[in-house]
Amino acid sequence: MAQKKPILDRVFSMEIARVTEAAAVAASRLIGCGDEKAADQAAVDAMRTALNKLDIRGEIVIGEGERDEAPMLYIGEKVGTGTGPELDIALDPLEGTTITAKAMPNALAVVAFAEKGNLLNAPDVYMDKLAIGGGYAKGVVDLDKTPAENISALAAAKGVPVQEITACVLDRPRHAEIIKSIRSVGARIQLIPDGDVAGVIATTQVHTGIDIYIGSGGAPEGVLAAAALRCIGGQMQGRLLFTNDEQRSRARKMGVKDLDHKYVLEELAAGDVIFSATGVTDGSMLHGIHREKDGAVTTHTVVMRSASGTVRWIRARHTDESKFG
Ligand code: FBP
Repeated sequence: MAQKKPILDRVFSMEIARVTEAAAVAASRLIGCGDEKAADQAAVDAMRTALNKLDIRGEIVIGEGERDEAPMLYIGEKVGTGTGPELDIALDPLEGTTITAKAMPNALAVVAFAEKGNLLNAPDVYMDKLAIGGGYAKGVVDLDKTPAENISALAAAKGVPVQEITACVLDRPRHAEIIKSIRSVGARIQLIPDGDVAGVIATTQVHTGIDIYIGSGGAPEGVLAAAALRCIGGQMQGRLLFTNDEQRSRARKMGVKDLDHKYVLEELAAGDVIFSATGVTDGSMLHGIHREKDGAVTTHTVVMRSASGTVRWIRARHTDESKFG
């Protein structure tokens, strides 16, 4: 029997890379300028222009916010030329606005495409996240266990003392209990100032030294990280966190039936998925944008496809930056 051809054809690997390259280059012009909004806006404008060049019928399901709060790349906005496959799009044109404004590491431009209906339509609330890299038995860690329990289970599965496990955690006062629990078993913690998409993906990259990601961050970023892990391997769970009824009713309107549901990776991002991230500032996963004396600009991008499991690292030298617009 003929196999179903993935909708996200191989050709998209280059097309999607151009989308994040454009956003990253635009945002990079504002690295270290102290203006988060301007950097984000530059990335949004560039990403939208690049998306609209693609032969897709795309709909944004994870974007810059709802239509009334986001003039561009809002949830529900249609992008693409209007011909080609119907796709759901999750995006964060600048993941790490503060990082960019302060010229700190790990800011990214990120996008994921999936077949229609396959990305969780997550509201812009926090999500409790737990992620580990590939190669472990399913369920070795669980969101319903304490950080200390998860670290101990992971150390046993990895066959190392707990002291050799490093957890990545966003440096936030709300994570005080998590940090205490991790330290109680003697594990190490890498505290990051921002950017938990990179933090989650770091669990899949041996050179980062990070074994596990624990803590809450944006739910949209959770879906984007899940899209990456679907391609590169690893496990992730997430649970939406609500602080008021307005958030709960917004989630219900977006189709969330069980507000306390513990989502596994395949529920956050299902089916055929393709993911791209381009570094804005230098980071653990990707080099940032660099400019040469003659005006050439270098970009570093990772593109991943779930259908093949291919992870492509694309370093590109663009002789004429003005082509990005
Ligand atoms: P922005 O790029 O939108 O500033 O997001 C950065 C980020 O650190 C995300 O990676 C993370 O999910 C979220 O903010 C955490 O939110 P908060 O800063 O409120 O703790």
